[in-house]
Amino acid sequence: MKRQLRDMVVVITGASAGIGKALSQALAERGARLALGARRLDKLEELRKTLSGEHLVVQTDVAKEEDCRRLVARAMEKFGRIDTLVCNAGYGIARSIVDSTADDVQRMFATNVYGTLDCIRAAVPEMRKQEPRDGYRGQVMIMSSAAGRRGLPYFGIYSATKFAQLGIAEALRVELKTELIAVTSVHPIGTQTDFFTVAQELGGLKMPVPGTGEVRQSAATVARKMIGAIERPRPELWPFQPARIAVSIGTLMPSVVDRIMGKYRGDFAPPQSS
Ligand SMILES: NC(=O)c1ccc[n+]([C@@H]2O[C@H](COP(=O)([O-])OP(=O)(O)OC[C@H]3O[C@@H](n4cnc5c(N)ncnc54)[C@H](OP(=O)(O)O)[C@@H]3O)[C@@H](O)[C@H]2O)c1
Repeated sequence: MKRQLRDMVVVITGASAGIGKALSQALAERGARLALGARRLDKLEELRKTLSGEHLVVQTDVAKEEDCRRLVARAMEKFGRIDTLVCNAGYGIARSIVDSTADDVQRMFATNVYGTLDCIRAAVPEMRKQEPRDGYRGQVMIMSSAAGRRGLPYFGIYSATKFAQLGIAEALRVELKTELIAVTSVHPIGTQTDFFTVAQELGGLKMPVPGTGEVRQSAATVARKMIGAIERPRPELWPFQPARIAVSIGTLMPSVVDRIMGKYRGDFAPPQSS
C-alpha cells in the first residue's frame, strides 16, 4: 500500500542544508507536515519561510540526547503523531585513520551514531502507541551512505559511523517489523552538498576535484528517491543503483576494490602540500 504524503508527519534531522533541506522542500510541496531539526536555527527559519504549510523548526544538536528528545516531544505536541523519522544529520572529516584523533572519533560517533540512536529511542515509543496509517505505524529512515558498505580511504572514521548506522538499521528492521514500523537505510554516493567542503575544512586535506570520472548526484535527486522510499518503505535505498551492484560485487573481490580505491586515495593531497 502506498503511504499518502499529504498530512504525513515527518521529522527530519539535519534539515538546514543539503539532502535534509532538499527532502524538506520536496515533502512540503507534497503536503507533508514537517518537524525540522539542526543546530543553525537561522537556516531552519529561513527554510520554513519558503515552505508552504505549517511546519515546526527546533534547534537541535543531535549529539545531545536532550535535544533529540526535545525535537520528538515538540513534534508530538504540535502534530500528535510521527509517521517518519529521518535520521539524516551527519558529517565527515577528510583525514587518515592514523591522523584521526580520539576527539575526532568521539565527536563523529556522537553525531552520526549516538544522534541516530537517541532520536530513534525518543521516537519509536511514540510510534508504537499510534494507530497505523496506510498500513504502517511509522517508519525510521537512517541516512547511512555507500561508504556504509565499503570503507573509503581518508574517510575511514566517517565510514565506520556509516557502517554502524547500517548495523543499527538491519537489526532494528527485524525488531520492529511485527509492530508495523518500517526501517529503511539510505546509501547515497557522493552528493552535491556542503558535505565535502565541511569534510575538507575539518580534515585539512585537499580532495580530488569531482569530474575526473566520479559521479555525483544532486541533493534534489537523492531527496526524490527518498520520497519514493517513504511512500513505499523498503529495507535499503540506493539512490544510484549501479553503486549497489558495484559495492556488492566488491565485497567478493576486496583486493580489486583496494586497487581502485588506491587510485582514488592517490588524489588526496596531504596538508603540507595543499
Ligand atoms: N553529500 C554526500 O556525498 C553524502 C553521501 C552519502 C551520505 N551522506 C549523508 O547525508 C547526510 C546529510 O549530509 P549532506 O550531504 O546533506 O551534508 P550537508 O549539506 O553538510 O548537511 C549536513 C546537515 O547535517 C546537519 N548537522 C550536522 N551536525 C549536526 C548535529 N550535531 N546536529 C544536528 N544537525 C547536524 C547540518 O546542520 P547544522 O550545521 O545546522 O547543524 C546540515 O543540515 C549526512 O548524514 C551524510 O553523512 C552524504
